[in-house]
Amino acid sequence: MRVLRSPAEAQAACRAAARGGTLGFVPTMGALHAGHAALLRRARAENDTVALSIFVNPLQFDEAADYARYPRSAEADARLAERAGCDLLLLLERDALYPPGFATRIDQPQLSGVLEGAARPGHFAGVLTVVAKLFALAQPARAYFGRKDLQQTVLVRRMVADLNLPLELVVCDTVRDADGLALSSRNAFLAPSDRARGLSLVRALAAAEAAFEAGERRADALRAVLARELAALPAPPDYAEIVDPDDLSPRAAARAGDVAVLAARVGKVRLIDNHVLGARLGPFTPRP
Ligand code: PAJ
Repeated sequence: MRVLRSPAEAQAACRAAARGGTLGFVPTMGALHAGHAALLRRARAENDTVALSIFVNPLQFDEAADYARYPRSAEADARLAERAGCDLLLLLERDALYPPGFATRIDQPQLSGVLEGAARPGHFAGVLTVVAKLFALAQPARAYFGRKDLQQTVLVRRMVADLNLPLELVVCDTVRDADGLALSSRNAFLAPSDRARGLSLVRALAAAEAAFEAGERRADALRAVLARELAALPAPPDYAEIVDPDDLSPRAAARAGDVAVLAARVGKVRLIDNHVLGARLGPFTPRP
């Protein structure tokens, strides 16, 4: 695995790789876990060369404190990336990607203001801007994203289409712990009691899936099922909705393929999760 530390080096290495076949690209903010590894392995299986970027993007954090405390673990990340089949590791620094004078933003006014965007103003403009930059550096044939961040995949897909970016977006299933909690770099900040409380999210999704399988199609009834499980949390969720997977608009009547989306603050951490109705979820092993 080669490590590239400047945008120019990264772009040159990715271009050279693309001349010899397809390049699969996995953008991340590091603190890698089995969810990131699953994206890498899928990229490995589908491409000649695999690149992974690690860049903690200040533009997408709404609080400076959250940016400062975001977990950073460069050495463990490099080991995980190499084991999962990464060829090119792009380690990028803030000043290299945002030199003095940097002024451009990419945004989608409709899609970036709902759900996560309503709770985190400016977040998605930050995500889209950096993803566009990273795509320009890596120029991949395919880019791999996790469905865990559903809204991010919807916005990136829109950007790829709207800007005619010449790449294929591949969205991969959410990797979970044995007890069902969706893996996230921020789970490291969960106290053990909060971690147990956080399982309410996956329980809510499983209950909504069970109701859907039993024939319930009314979105308010499915929302009520979500709310019932989330009532165990110390504070009400930020949202618990049934949405259209293409434009995130709320549904009145749910269909297979629609998505139950949730976000809630648990202790110091904001957890998000989602489930595509009609898809398998669980069973999960309870923690001892
Ligand atoms: P990060 O949170 O590091 O996530 C990198 C990629 O891993 C994203 O596509 C995310 O959806 C995926 N991922 C995270 N947890 C996952 C899980 N449990 N199962 C499967 N995939 C998972 O998302 C970002 O970084 C940033 O916003 C980024 C796109 C890199 C732009 O800065």
